[in-house]
Amino acid sequence: MLRVSAFRLLGRRGASRVSLLEDFSFRYYSSGPLGVRDDTRDSRAYFTTPIFYVNAAPHIGHLYSALLADALCRHHRLRVPSDAATGFSTGTDEHGLKIQQAAAAAGLAPSELCDRVSAQFQQLFREADISSTDFIRTTEARHRIAVQHFGMLKSRGLLYKGLYEGWYCASDECFLPEAKVTRQPGPSGDLCPVSLESGHPVSWTKEENYIFRLSQFREPLQQWLRGDPQAITPEPFHHTVLQWLEEELPDLSVSRRSSHLHWGIPVPGDDSQTIYVWLDALVNYLTVIGYPDAEFKSWWPNTSHIIGKDILKFHAIYWPALLLGAGMSPPHRIYVHSHWTVCGQKMSKSLGNVVDPRTCLDRYTVDGFRYFLLRQGVPSWDCDYYDEKVVKLLDSELADALGGLLNRCTANKINPSGIYPAFCATCFPSEPGLVGPSSRAQAEDYALVSAVATLPKQVADHYDNFQIYKALEAVSSCVRQTNGFVQRHAPWKLNWESPVDAPWLGTVLHVALECLRVFGTLLQPVTPSLADRLLSRLGVSSTERSLGELHFLSRFYGHPSPFEGRRLGPETGVLFPRLDQSRSWLVKAHKT
Ligand code: MSP
Repeated sequence: MLRVSAFRLLGRRGASRVSLLEDFSFRYYSSGPLGVRDDTRDSRAYFTTPIFYVNAAPHIGHLYSALLADALCRHHRLRVPSDAATGFSTGTDEHGLKIQQAAAAAGLAPSELCDRVSAQFQQLFREADISSTDFIRTTEARHRIAVQHFGMLKSRGLLYKGLYEGWYCASDECFLPEAKVTRQPGPSGDLCPVSLESGHPVSWTKEENYIFRLSQFREPLQQWLRGDPQAITPEPFHHTVLQWLEEELPDLSVSRRSSHLHWGIPVPGDDSQTIYVWLDALVNYLTVIGYPDAEFKSWWPNTSHIIGKDILKFHAIYWPALLLGAGMSPPHRIYVHSHWTVCGQKMSKSLGNVVDPRTCLDRYTVDGFRYFLLRQGVPSWDCDYYDEKVVKLLDSELADALGGLLNRCTANKINPSGIYPAFCATCFPSEPGLVGPSSRAQAEDYALVSAVATLPKQVADHYDNFQIYKALEAVSSCVRQTNGFVQRHAPWKLNWESPVDAPWLGTVLHVALECLRVFGTLLQPVTPSLADRLLSRLGVSSTERSLGELHFLSRFYGHPSPFEGRRLGPETGVLFPRLDQSRSWLVKAHKT
C-alpha cells in the first residue's frame, strides 16, 4: 500500500504543480484530445508488442501477443506499401527482481539467463514469421541512455524522494494496496500473503524511493480517454480504465534500493537506487524510435501498443501519465487482448500445462498455427486451447475450403491451358437487369460478387477495431460462398470444346480465381507464406499484392483485367495438407 501520508519529502515540491498542469493543457488539449493535430500524423505507423520477461521460455500466449501485432502491422503495410512507413518493435524485458531471482534460482548470472531466454524469443519469432523491424533488449546500452534521459521527470518536478511502505509482488513486478492482497496456505501450510488477482506471493517492503506524482494525472488521463473513445480498444477495456480513474490515484514508487534490486538501471546521480522495472520496460517503446534524439518525434504520434489485459494498468495509466509528465502525448492506440487457457485452465509452469509454441509450429506449420491463433483468439474474452480444435479448424478452413477451391479451379483437368481464363460479359452481365439470352449468372452469383467486392473494406474495419478473428471469419465465409458458386455451376461438367459452354466455363473459373486473388491478398497478414503460394499459383506478381492493386473482377465493371490470359504459376502442390488424424501426437492427446 502506498502511504502518501508517510512520505518524507526531500526535494522541490508543490510549487511547480500548477504550472506543469497548465503546460499540459496548453500542449495537449488545445487542439483536440491529444493536442496532436491530424496534419502532424502522416502515413507512418509504429506497432509494438510488450517486451517479454526472460524468466521462462516463451509460450503460446506470448506468441499470440506478437502475432496480433504482426498481423496489424502487415495489414497496415498492405494499405501503405512502403517499408519506410511502418515500424514494428518487439523484444525482451530483462531487468528487475523477477529476473534477478530467477537467475539466482537457476544458478546463473542474470546476464546469462537473459542471453539464453532472449535468444529463444528471437528464434521463435523468426520461425513464426514475425516481421518486426527491431528487437530490443532492455540490457542494451541504447536503452540505458533512453531510460536515464527519461529521468528528466525529476527536473520537471514530478519525482520526489519519499518512504514507500507496502506490498510488492516480484512475479508481477508491481506494488499492491492491502485490498488487493489475500492469504493462502503456503507449501508448509502456513497462511502466506498473495496477490488477489494473480495468486503470486507478495512481500512487505519499506524503503525510501523516488516517487512519481501519478496522483496529478488523474484528470488529464480522464480528459484523454473521454476525448478519444477509441484510444483503448476493444471498448470494454476503455471503460475499465475510466472506471479505475474514478478512484484516487496514489503516487507511484519508481525506484528500488540497489542493495535489494541490483539488476537494473541505476538512477542517474544516485547509485543507491535502481529504476523500477516497469518504468525501465515502458521506455523501450521510445528507445526503439531513437529517443532521446529528435527522430523519435516523427514516429511517436502514430504508435499502437498491443498488450495483454494483465498489463492494462501499466500501459493505460502509468505509461500515459509518465509520457504526459515528460511532455509527450499518450500512445495513439492501445489494443488489448485476453488470454489463452489450456483445457480450461490458466497456463502455468507449476500446473505443467504450458503449451510450447515451437512444437505447435512444427505440428501445424507456421501458417497453420498463425491462422489458428488469430482465427480463434477473441480479444474480449479468454480462449481455450486444445489440439483437436486446431486440427478441426485447419482441416476444414485451410485444407478443404481454401485449398480445395484453389485446386478445383486450377487443376489441369479443369483448366488444361494453365491460363487465367477470360471473363465473358454477356454470360455474366454487370447488372442482373441486363440479362440476355447468353446470360448464365444467377442471383446468388451477384450476391457473391458483391460480398467479395466489399470484403477488403470489411476486413480493414475489423482490423481497425482489433477484431482480426472477425476479418478471418468474413474471409472464410466468402470462401464458402465461392465454393458454393463453383459447386452450383459445376465447371467439370462444362466442355471447353463447346462454343456454348466455353465462354461460361472461362467466366466461372475467372470469377473464382478473382475471388481467390482477393482471399490471397487479404490473408497475407495472417498466413504470409500460404498466401504467397496461393498468389503465385494465380500468377499475381509481388507488385500486385497490395490493397491498392486489388481491382477485383475489373472485367465485370467494364475495365480491362491484367490477369486475363496470363499464365498461371507453375507450382501445383497442395496448398495446405490435411492434418493426418492418425499422427501419434494427436492419438496421445486423445488418450490423456
Ligand atoms: N514484461 C512485461 C511487459 C512489459 S511491456 C513494457 C510482461 N511480460 S510477459 O512476458 O509476462 O507478458 C508478455 C505478454 O504476453 C503480455 O501481453 C501478456 O498479456 C501476454 N501473455 C502472457 N500469458 C498469456 C496467455 N496465457 N495468453 C495470452 N497472452 C498472454 O508482462
